[in-house]
Amino acid sequence: MPDLDVVLPPGFQLVSYAERPDLIRDAGHFNGSIWPEFMLHDAVVQRHWHLLEDTFLDDQLVLLDADGRIAATNNSAPLAWDGTDAGLPDGWDDQFERTAGDLATGTPVNTLGALQIVVDPARRGTGLAGVMVRAMQANAVVHGFGALIACVRPTAKHRYPLAPIERYAFWTNEDGQPFDPWVRLHVRLGARIVRGSSRAMTIRGRVAEWEGWTGMAFPDSGDYVVPFAAAPVHLDRDADEGVYYDPNIWVVHELRDSAQRHPLGSVP
Ligand SMILES: CC(C)(COP(=O)(O)OP(=O)(O)OC[C@H]1O[C@@H](n2cnc3c(N)ncnc32)[C@H](O)[C@@H]1OP(=O)(O)O)[C@@H](O)C(=O)NCCC(=O)NCCS
Repeated sequence: MPDLDVVLPPGFQLVSYAERPDLIRDAGHFNGSIWPEFMLHDAVVQRHWHLLEDTFLDDQLVLLDADGRIAATNNSAPLAWDGTDAGLPDGWDDQFERTAGDLATGTPVNTLGALQIVVDPARRGTGLAGVMVRAMQANAVVHGFGALIACVRPTAKHRYPLAPIERYAFWTNEDGQPFDPWVRLHVRLGARIVRGSSRAMTIRGRVAEWEGWTGMAFPDSGDYVVPFAAAPVHLDRDADEGVYYDPNIWVVHELRDSAQRHPLGSVP
């Protein structure tokens, strides 16, 4: 991996899976351990995640602290995008499906699609999330891509599970900045909010599985507010199925003139 033009904390190191395949397993545990269990049961993830470890190794980055411990990770994969808002994938799942489809058909790619950023819970609030967003931007530039697109999972949405994502996407604080902290960071680093995506990820399971994933009982059919779910989960006891659509927000980081507007590595 070429050197990415990103300022790191002293002693920290940014490495890719290509450079350090020995980290793949630990990074997987690091990522998996922070999500609520139900988020680990998206069928698209289960179908395609291996591509990140088999094919797109340069796009999976791990931030190591001075002692070699994992402080943060990011995952992304390339896809073809026509550059229009209407041409964005429907949601996160659709983005990943497009990546897999473009790979299978040999379609030339021109865009980096963000999939995930995770910061060690003990180190949150220290600026590492911004480092990992910048690393994705810089990696996209190294590929010669014009944009980084992200179907962002808004980190505060679970506290407002009944708010429509199309409206939540444009909520602002009194200072005019985006209400959601994670969307706000993307915008601070140059992204533009495009729209809400109400069915960005789809998670299905039998009722007993949902009960196991959430530690809740679902005695009746209907919609349930579930801890850390950003929208209600619909349980249908007759069909023995629960369905959850994770609502996300599309943001676009245009990178062609970003060197002037948001120098990679600068502190926002
Ligand atoms: C999302 C994540 C990467 C952000 O990392 P972070 O270190 O907290 O990020 P920052 O310190 O830059 O904080 C970004 C903003 O969130 C705010 N914030 C941080 N932790 C917060 C919390 N627990 N609750 C509310 N706001 C929080 C910060 O104050 C900052 O807001 P500001 O604009 O007022 O400064 C991290 O929380 C994480 O790993 N979450 C779990 C995985 C995840 O949800 N990833 C994103 C979707 S893939």
